[in-house]
Amino acid sequence: MTQRISLTRYLIEKQRGSRDAGGEGTIPPQLRLLLEVVARACKSISLAVTKGALGGVLGAAESENVQGEIQKKLDIIANEVLIEANEWGGHLAAMASEEMEGIYLVPNRYPQGEYLLMFDPLDGSSNIDVNVSIGTIFSVMVKKTEGPGVSEQDFLQPGTQQVAAGYCVYGPQTTLVLTVGEGVAMFTLDREQGSFVLTQENVRIPEDTQEFAINMSNMRHWAPPVTRYIEECLAGKTGPRGKDFNMRWIASMVADVHRILTRGGVFMYPWDQREPGKPGKLRLMYEANPMGWLVEQAGGAASTGTERILDIQPSQLHQRVSVVLGSKNEVERVARYHAEHQK
Ligand code: AHG
Ligand code: MN
Ligand code: MN
Repeated sequence: MTQRISLTRYLIEKQRGSRDAGGEGTIPPQLRLLLEVVARACKSISLAVTKGALGGVLGAAESENVQGEIQKKLDIIANEVLIEANEWGGHLAAMASEEMEGIYLVPNRYPQGEYLLMFDPLDGSSNIDVNVSIGTIFSVMVKKTEGPGVSEQDFLQPGTQQVAAGYCVYGPQTTLVLTVGEGVAMFTLDREQGSFVLTQENVRIPEDTQEFAINMSNMRHWAPPVTRYIEECLAGKTGPRGKDFNMRWIASMVADVHRILTRGGVFMYPWDQREPGKPGKLRLMYEANPMGWLVEQAGGAASTGTERILDIQPSQLHQRVSVVLGSKNEVERVARYHAEHQK
């Protein structure tokens, strides 16, 4: 029987480092603790999701979040689970979430660490009640300023500064996908054992693809380079691309990105004219940055169409961004169409 490697073992071995590398570990103990805690929180969220109507977790709450979106009960439950799991361990300086306007400071009664944790506690909220895959997305950075205080400014670092990022998708299987900057690993939740088991290492996204993901109902609002790219895909074998394309749109970024990490593809949520003042729908700090880094770590690319997502210097915690990510050659093509259009 091949030996099963749990997430715990995987992280301990990363902390210890390989003998070949002289025993120098790649993740510090506090980061290992943080990732264990996030995984444990995802396990609880997974349980709540699975109960559905029987657990009273479906439907809307009576509140709005900072982006003016009606919160679902599970948005709030998942947010609370992540906060309660993480606030007392001593590994964090502060947290930020899609569901909270300001940053969440670790209460005074607990020790403070150096890590900053950002999350989208429940991604794909419109899919909760219809029993379609949803997930949790997270990103970890280090607080760079000295001393005990933490401010929103500490969070405003580009995605290149992430030290860990990942997501957990609650679908037919619950799968945790993680990078600490050494490729991407996937762990499947063994519900009987209650532990995440390593099921794929060195995840790679094929450079070419014949599958795209975009909300086609917005087509009339897109910018010309996006329309050009999709029209060429739709033209199929006899069009300029010379091949037929397939389309998927799950409306949960976690599920769409999970498919791309599994079999390739390109995902786009571009700027559109509905709200011209907004750069896009998705949030930079806890959606685009962690997903962008995962995709890059798997050999893909992540761009706004005009620049690399991870290079963006954020100016606001909840800032939005246009997203094109996935198979490298397709993302580069979309970027080229943007450049050609600007000329
Ligand atoms: P959230 O549920 O965290 O607000 O995020 C939903 C996002 C993303 O997951 C998905 O790709 C996109 O919104 C779907 O948007 P449309 O409903 O506009 O297609
Ligand atoms: Mn989301
Ligand atoms: Mn969300």
